[in-house]
Amino acid sequence: MAIKKKALISGVTGQDGSFLAELLLKKGYEVHGIIRRASTFNTSRIDHIFQDLHADKKMFHLHHGDLADANTIRRLIQKIEPDEIFNLGAQSHVRVSFDIPEYTANVTGLGTLRVLEAIKDYGESGGKKKIKFYQASSSELFGSTPPPQNEQSPFHPRSPYACAKAFAYHTTVNYREAYGIFACNGILYNHESVRRGETFVTRKITRGVARIAAGLDKKLYLGNLDARRDWGYAPEYMEAAWLMLQQAKPSDYVIGTGESHSVREFVIAAFAAAGIDNWKKYVEFDKRYLRPTEVNDLYADTRKARRVLKWKAKTKFKDLVKIMVAHDMKKHGIDSVKK
Ligand code: NAP
Ligand code: GDD
Repeated sequence: MAIKKKALISGVTGQDGSFLAELLLKKGYEVHGIIRRASTFNTSRIDHIFQDLHADKKMFHLHHGDLADANTIRRLIQKIEPDEIFNLGAQSHVRVSFDIPEYTANVTGLGTLRVLEAIKDYGESGGKKKIKFYQASSSELFGSTPPPQNEQSPFHPRSPYACAKAFAYHTTVNYREAYGIFACNGILYNHESVRRGETFVTRKITRGVARIAAGLDKKLYLGNLDARRDWGYAPEYMEAAWLMLQQAKPSDYVIGTGESHSVREFVIAAFAAAGIDNWKKYVEFDKRYLRPTEVNDLYADTRKARRVLKWKAKTKFKDLVKIMVAHDMKKHGIDSVKK
């Protein structure tokens, strides 16, 4: 019988962590996730898999921990002895990182170092597994570098979040080169889904449109409508993350759709999907959503991922918008989404 692989996921309660946990469980992994202690429930994205598996043989385990707490990270790695670690945990909101830069650097930047140090020490103290490591890097690293960006494009981070991710990216490469750790950076462009946090622009728009359609809100307040992003569908991106750790050699990969659209185009598509004419009547500008330094345009040159991983984004922009609008409308009992 094949030996089951074990995976450890930081950020398992987030959008990506929940999709990755589902994917790995389907592949027969024993999955361990790190969750933060909170005064309210924070497991809504993973409750469905936790309950299903609880009744059966337990393949999904949750552990309290925090990327700011090196001792616990180290203890978990020594106890679980995972084959693969996916470091998805982060203070992941770019706008918020300007308000809490030090915390963001600690968790999003130093958090990665803490995990890599624990992997290194595990190996050096005779640990029997050669643990593979995935770092959730970001297209925000490219910042003001003109698109399309690929693995060779220079980084020009434009926020405390992106600076922290740049530290984490380089630390990952350094631990690969210095200690021979199988460590990969997935440089992922924006990816969205019905589980996307409600303060990221796509979900804020689809949720807002649904509330306007249901008569609950009159306005949707947004910042810069001119920014352009390469928006893909999150579950597909977690397949790419997994593929990176299945290759013969560790490397870094850019993952995206290869197309960019403006926030305005997303707004127009979302109102159209909801069957609401004249979006301008509902959308208001609010300067609080602007960033001190903006990233204007990101889209990926994904040739390496296609060639090496045989991975390609499938869900197109318009379909992504419809999936998200349909989900948010359904919450208010509205079933129809325009073709
Ligand atoms: P998300 O929904 O914001 O999830 C972030 C996860 O990190 C949550 O589980 C959160 O826990 C956890 N977390 C936050 N602070 C932590 C801490 N101090 N210690 C341990 N865990 C902590 O983000 P996502 O969209 O799934 O993204 C996953 C990763 O990919 C992040 O690192 C993000 O920066 C990166 N990324 C995302 C995208 C994208 O478009 N989605 C693109 C490129 C890179 P709580 O649930 O308790 O808050
Ligand atoms: N959040 C938000 N809210 N963004 C707005 C708003 C608003 O009301 N109005 C306009 N925007 C613009 C932002 O200025 C930005 O240019 C764009 O919409 C996208 O913002 P977000 O959805 O917050 O995502 P992000 O691109 O800053 O960051 C996301 O993608 C990165 C990958 O490129 C996050 O998921 C990061 O964690 C991830 O690394």
